[in-house]
Amino acid sequence: MGKIRCVGVLTSGGDAPGMNAAIRAVTRSAICNGFKVKGIYRGYDGLINGEVKRFTTEDVSNIIQTGGTILRTARSKEFETAAGRKKAFETLKREAIDALIVIGGNGSLTGARIFAEEYDIPCIGLPGTIDNDLFGTDNTIGYDTTLNTITQCVDKIRDTATSHERIFFVEVMGRDAGFLAQNSAIAAGAEAAIIPEDSTGSDQLIKFMERGIRKSKKSCIVIVSESPKCGAIYYANRVNKEYPNFDVRVSILGHLQRGGSPTARDRILASRVGVGAIEALVQGQRNVMVGIRNNEVVYVPIVDAVGKRKPIDKQLIKVLDELSI
Ligand code: F6P
Repeated sequence: MGKIRCVGVLTSGGDAPGMNAAIRAVTRSAICNGFKVKGIYRGYDGLINGEVKRFTTEDVSNIIQTGGTILRTARSKEFETAAGRKKAFETLKREAIDALIVIGGNGSLTGARIFAEEYDIPCIGLPGTIDNDLFGTDNTIGYDTTLNTITQCVDKIRDTATSHERIFFVEVMGRDAGFLAQNSAIAAGAEAAIIPEDSTGSDQLIKFMERGIRKSKKSCIVIVSESPKCGAIYYANRVNKEYPNFDVRVSILGHLQRGGSPTARDRILASRVGVGAIEALVQGQRNVMVGIRNNEVVYVPIVDAVGKRKPIDKQLIKVLDELSI
């Protein structure tokens, strides 16, 4: 691989608030460091199909405060195939793009890892996902905004729960990770969180109901991590059957959790890792994800960022348990 002259940037997977701030940071920092920048639209699909545009500083003006992604995004099936990745590499050659910056979550960075193993192209990942499930960074871009959105929603649901003396099961996103559920439960003063990381021990519903009954609370909010089989509806049905004296409702927050203007924290995180991505290329690094740990920019091999499981701090479980008495 020769000298880097032109950097391509794309967003991939689920959109996350702060992705635009990251695109802006990458673009402006690249230009400051003497690189050309090309925006690639619609994630890896756009890379395969050649949807590429030269970016100037003006192309990223007035976007730091906006949700979604100006580059659009996709979950590309074609990029999962060797033939798709070959086409993607041909686009890079045709467009004279020498390095690729991928802003996305687990699946998107896994795609970058495989691509970088097959082709001689430096790939830098930026952690862009509301799920906060990437190893090696304390937070991912979008997570803080979503956490705040969920907290505001649960505050509203609390009014009805209290007034009607109901149990609410509120289902939140997170894919296989409970960061959003556990921390929104703490922030909103919920009575419990049911998360995948805590599912190995006793039945979480029975544990909660028995504590809840002992406390003789009349209304409760339980935050449940999404799950194909054991989501909020599953638990509500069980309470209806096993504890028929309670008035139970379900609220599935859905995609409203992914929208909206990013918080200051997400904008700053996105700006720092965006600048960090260009710094990584200047230093000659490749195939790393840029994260922030203990307030310092870190470079994590992409293989670890996607391959290692990020643990949930067990103290968070204790905090919620003790504060919900
Ligand atoms: O990874 C982000 C995320 O919002 C997950 O929390 C959720 O499981 C998934 O994406 C939903 O994806 P889609 O928007 O494709 O339904």
